[in-house]
Amino acid sequence: MRTSAPWSSICFVVSVFAAPSVNTFETSSFAAHDVITRDFVIVGGGAAGTYAAVALKDEGKSFVVVEKTNRLGGHVATYQDPTTGASVDYGVQIYDNDTIVRNFFERLNTPLAQFDMANFGSPIYADFKTGNLLNLTTGSLGQDYLEELTEYSYLNDGIDLPDPVPEDLLLPWVDYIAKHNLEDSAMATLARPAIPGNLLDIPALYVFNDLNDLMLHEENGGAVVNGKRDNSQLYRNALAELKSNVLLNSTVIAGDRGSNHRQGVRLVVQTPTGKKLILAKQLLVAIPQTIQNMKTFGLDNREKGILSQIYGLPYYGGVVKNTGLASGFSYKNYAANNTYNIAEIPSVVEFNPSPVDEHLYYWYNSAKPVSQKRIEADARNAIKTLQKLTGAATQPEPQFVAFTDFGPFHLAAEVDDIRNGFYRDAYALQGHRNTWYIGTLFVTGSSQVWNNTAIMLPDILAAAH
Ligand SMILES: Cc1cc2nc3c(=O)[nH]c(=O)nc-3n(C[C@H](O)[C@H](O)[C@H](O)COP(=O)(O)OP(=O)(O)OC[C@H]3O[C@@H](n4cnc5c(N)ncnc54)[C@H](O)[C@@H]3O)c2cc1C
Ligand SMILES: *[C@@H]1O[C@H](CO)[C@@H](O)[C@H](O)[C@H]1NC(C)=O
Ligand SMILES: *[C@@H]1O[C@H](CO)[C@@H](O)[C@H](O)[C@H]1NC(C)=O
Ligand SMILES: *[C@@H]1O[C@H](CO)[C@@H](O)[C@H](O)[C@H]1NC(C)=O
Ligand SMILES: *[C@@H]1O[C@H](CO)[C@@H](O)[C@H](O)[C@H]1NC(C)=O
Ligand SMILES: *[C@@H]1O[C@H](CO)[C@@H](O)[C@H](O)[C@H]1NC(C)=O
Repeated sequence: MRTSAPWSSICFVVSVFAAPSVNTFETSSFAAHDVITRDFVIVGGGAAGTYAAVALKDEGKSFVVVEKTNRLGGHVATYQDPTTGASVDYGVQIYDNDTIVRNFFERLNTPLAQFDMANFGSPIYADFKTGNLLNLTTGSLGQDYLEELTEYSYLNDGIDLPDPVPEDLLLPWVDYIAKHNLEDSAMATLARPAIPGNLLDIPALYVFNDLNDLMLHEENGGAVVNGKRDNSQLYRNALAELKSNVLLNSTVIAGDRGSNHRQGVRLVVQTPTGKKLILAKQLLVAIPQTIQNMKTFGLDNREKGILSQIYGLPYYGGVVKNTGLASGFSYKNYAANNTYNIAEIPSVVEFNPSPVDEHLYYWYNSAKPVSQKRIEADARNAIKTLQKLTGAATQPEPQFVAFTDFGPFHLAAEVDDIRNGFYRDAYALQGHRNTWYIGTLFVTGSSQVWNNTAIMLPDILAAAH
């Protein structure tokens, strides 16, 4: 690439979509042991990719998983306390007790237990900036919300919108609340910590898509968790079983997918032991399908047009010990004078209790990327404020022991793009050029990701014939 200043940025833009050279995908360009031939290639080893791999194995198919990090599990994040061995889940917390979840845990010999919502801690609402306690309660979802939800059953298992898209679903949530008199449930609909961005501005369809029948079931006694309160166990067990077919620390650097099913998929993957050529019949994309993540997959114009409408937001989490804060409480950041007391971002969302003594986990919400240093500094300041506020017996210096960047999180499109048919077009892309999109493009929770993958499997298998 040229390096002279005026050209470098142009070259970057061009190189993003630059065609690989003709030899890129030739088997003759690789040593024989660097060519991997499979029925399926799965990119991303989080909830969706891992589920798909196990399901394909059970169908007797061959596959390879390409995962960027050094483990499976994606948004599951577990800190292991080195002294006690006990674990703190600070990403994915709970699952829905349904057949899909029970079967998958059983398949991977992983114990499952009932989850008591009281484990999330008694709420203490405080303004982390000013150090004021707030006397409020977010309450529970009322009939007003539940009645609205029943109108949008097509958002329960996906985002399969009518055409034209109902304008109400494109309203910022705060406007939807006002228009439909949802004041009774407003605070409860906004009390959803693991949702990034400004909760008041989220288009209504994403609220109904997330705060759905399944979520209600979880909140009403239907929540389960790993038996050891270690949500990574499922994925360690999966890795142990799939190991020889998982490429960790690996990413796709070039891709070529045929326009018909006979031409298949060719991916060049950078691995710790060099470049590999993967030849497969079908590709399952189980990473956040943003254009940034997908630009190396050899996209055609239709794919570029659709995928470039997808965005995710930053979200972060970590574990902190030595806080001096009383255990058993969930310290939540709210702001006295804001609409529905929603705190401004960037800021810590909440500090929650964990099964490990003196260890809290926290989540951090921001519209723009923030450094770990800044996040931990903000979290420290919030803890210092809470120490004074709650009259902590001692005011020790907090110690940060784990951190994860969960972004790009909560895949979404802009309202104008949704109105113009983004979801219709994204669904229509399934199977195009031997490529399938699984994961959180159309649903938010793990059990739905698994369910949707299971439902798509017959089509995916048929395409590989
Ligand atoms: C803080 C937090 C709490 C949550 N709590 C819950 C909960 O309690 N219950 C629940 O059901 N859901 C929860 N979720 C939702 C969660 O997103 C889904 O449950 C599920 O994990 C999403 O699965 P996925 O496979 O689509 O994505 P992910 O789990 O994010 O997996 C994507 C995988 O792709 C890999 N990857 C990314 N980019 C690339 C690349 N370029 N090349 C190769 N690999 C790549 C990642 O490393 C990751 O392993 C939570 C999410 C967060 C962030
Ligand atoms: C992946 O990279 C990490 C360091 O980031 C290393 O510890 C680990 O051994 C690597 N795993 C593989 C399978 O290459
Ligand atoms: C799976 O999805 C189907 C179709 O959307 C739905 O009817 C079913 O209830 C879901 N099952 C689970 C366990 O979520
Ligand atoms: C889940 O639901 C089933 C069926 O209702 C029930 O038998 C079981 O006890 C529940 N909990 C767990 C952890 O499976
Ligand atoms: C908190 O608010 C409730 C009603 O909103 C009120 O009844 C109660 O007295 C308040 N408590 C304090 C300590 O102000
Ligand atoms: C909130 O508003 C009240 C009344 O207007 C004011 O006295 C108070 O200082 C404000 N609090 C904050 C945190 O801005």
